[in-house]
Amino acid sequence: MFSARVFATVFASGAILLVLHGAFESSNSVSVGTEADVRVGGVAKAVELGTIWDQIETTPELKWTDCYTQLQCARLRVPLNYSDPKGAPASIALIRFPSPLAGTDEYKGPILLNPGGPGGSGVQLVVNAGQTLSQLLGPNFDIVSFDPRGVGLSVPRASFFDTNVQREMWGSVFDVLNATSDGLARAWGRAQLTGGLAAKHDQRHVFEHINTENTARDMLEIVEAHGRKKIQYWGFSYGTVLGATFASIFPDRIERLVLDGVVDSENYFATLWSNNLLDTDKTLQTFFDGCFEAGPIACPFYEPSPAAISRKLDDLTRHIFLNPVPVQTNISYGLVDYTLLRLTIFQSLYTPYAAFPLLGRALADLADGDGTLLYQFFEQPPFDCSCGAPAPLQPIRDGQTTILCTDGEEVRDTVKELRPFVDDLVGLSQWGEVWATIRIGCTAWPKQQKKHFRGPFVGNTSHPILWVGNTADPVTPVASAHKMAKGFPGSVVLTQDSPGHCSIAAPSSCSQRYIRDYFIHGTLPKEGIVCPVDSPIFPQPQPRTSVNAESEASQQHLGKGRGPAPSDPEMGDVLERLRKSFRVPSPLWLGI
Ligand SMILES: *[C@@H]1O[C@H](CO)[C@@H](O)[C@H](O)[C@H]1NC(C)=O
Ligand SMILES: *[C@@H]1O[C@H](CO)[C@@H](O)[C@H](O)[C@H]1NC(C)=O
Ligand SMILES: *[C@@H]1O[C@H](CO)[C@@H](O)[C@H](O)[C@H]1NC(C)=O
Ligand SMILES: *[C@@H]1O[C@H](CO)[C@@H](O)[C@H](O)[C@H]1NC(C)=O
Repeated sequence: MFSARVFATVFASGAILLVLHGAFESSNSVSVGTEADVRVGGVAKAVELGTIWDQIETTPELKWTDCYTQLQCARLRVPLNYSDPKGAPASIALIRFPSPLAGTDEYKGPILLNPGGPGGSGVQLVVNAGQTLSQLLGPNFDIVSFDPRGVGLSVPRASFFDTNVQREMWGSVFDVLNATSDGLARAWGRAQLTGGLAAKHDQRHVFEHINTENTARDMLEIVEAHGRKKIQYWGFSYGTVLGATFASIFPDRIERLVLDGVVDSENYFATLWSNNLLDTDKTLQTFFDGCFEAGPIACPFYEPSPAAISRKLDDLTRHIFLNPVPVQTNISYGLVDYTLLRLTIFQSLYTPYAAFPLLGRALADLADGDGTLLYQFFEQPPFDCSCGAPAPLQPIRDGQTTILCTDGEEVRDTVKELRPFVDDLVGLSQWGEVWATIRIGCTAWPKQQKKHFRGPFVGNTSHPILWVGNTADPVTPVASAHKMAKGFPGSVVLTQDSPGHCSIAAPSSCSQRYIRDYFIHGTLPKEGIVCPVDSPIFPQPQPRTSVNAESEASQQHLGKGRGPAPSDPEMGDVLERLRKSFRVPSPLWLGI
């Protein structure tokens, strides 16, 4: 929907964009052609993907082939149905940044990562951030990830449409409920069609196998294919559901498990999506507070109090609702309307350190009638279906719907039955009008046996789990980390005192040192530790130099002037690169 196009976009200068292209419509074929387009700071740089993945054979052992730059790729053969191991196979696309210490005494094996979603591409994660993650965690590890079954380069890949054009025409709309007076009914109606299209495109009945239990089993296969018994894993957001599922099914197979940006797995498997927004309004409040503290030069949307900034945003939102602003850039064109404004602000809450300084400028421009900057947050070239051009691969959108609706309890609510659910969610946070569409999106999901694992989430793990939660995470409140930790004796919750989604959204060398020590030595922080951040969200302009919100110099300047300076500048640099190259995907951009 609005989604994958948006997710794949650069919105902070210097970020890396990876768009995958390919002819992927035969979701069961093992050979897939792709081509990637990596944009760095807005400059497109073509990377030949197609030939790479085309040439990689699916094998029962790991057979690594050099790919991209300094990376290695493989395709692992696993059973599609673990109760029928001799039946049809699935092919899991794997990628790694290999440890430079492989073969030495210091080598500590693979760390497996999942970027979230569900439906996020691990291949994309490692292409964008593999080397940076290796610098963060240490050269002792291979940095390994994979496209979960149903997603991206793995096979089967979930797809509800005959062509990419159809997906683009029908599937790229995202309903923000208050955008129209029939918002809820509209979202529900679209879900009926998506469910119908999914059923129509699942004649071979593979979607039921695209679930989190099976992906957890795939992870064990990946671990064993490395010749190891136990997993070392870092999962973000939905990746914590995957990790908690793994830990509940295979508690004796845990060597290291970091679950970062913790989802309440019970709530997830009940298809409720009802307790994610506990701290969302608090996250937005950090924008108002930060903008006020930064002053009118660093934050042009400034007003003389945080409350006044909040009111100004409400006024602007009401104005835009009635007066959408047309924008034409030399790349594309469109309207900044209520839906785009709300989604852009919501998405900014995931990565305040990258997004808020830019948001402060974009909102000020918009208030002056210029929507260009706001529009450019998620700008993409217009979809082009000209003959012969490779259609963009949507690696995640349909896969995400498939995973979360297949995982969850069946939902068959009518519009009338959904009303109280939506009211409750809107009562919890003003962003309920955005988030509610996730559950609504499953109301017509094809009927299934639902025999896969859905809890309980408990286990005496062979090594204690490290949970990580931020004090103002917009979609995974730290309360969920504490709830989940109860099921796993010995596990510890590390709190990071920051807004943003998952630890890596904010610069905290404190958190990252705990995470690194945990991976290297197995040590856990004491229960109750709260890590500060190294620098504030809004960099201060330096005297006599131009205002550049992204300027490293001004960030360092501020880091020394206010708040605890990063005691490890190298770590600060690595973390900044990670923030620019890796964003935890959000269900909203992936489209439900
Ligand atoms: C998986 O295989 C088992 C054993 O053949 C079978 O009973 C079950 O229905 C299969 N599951 C699905 C979802 O097809
Ligand atoms: C778009 O215009 C800007 C200046 O307004 C220029 O710097 C940029 O290179 C242009 N981009 C393209 C793709 O033409
Ligand atoms: C959306 O509409 C509901 C009423 O249907 C209202 O309670 C809520 O405050 C509105 N949300 C926003 C963000 O305007
Ligand atoms: C974990 O171990 C404790 C103490 O031995 C036991 O009471 C509990 O039932 C175990 N939990 C699980 C999920 O096996």
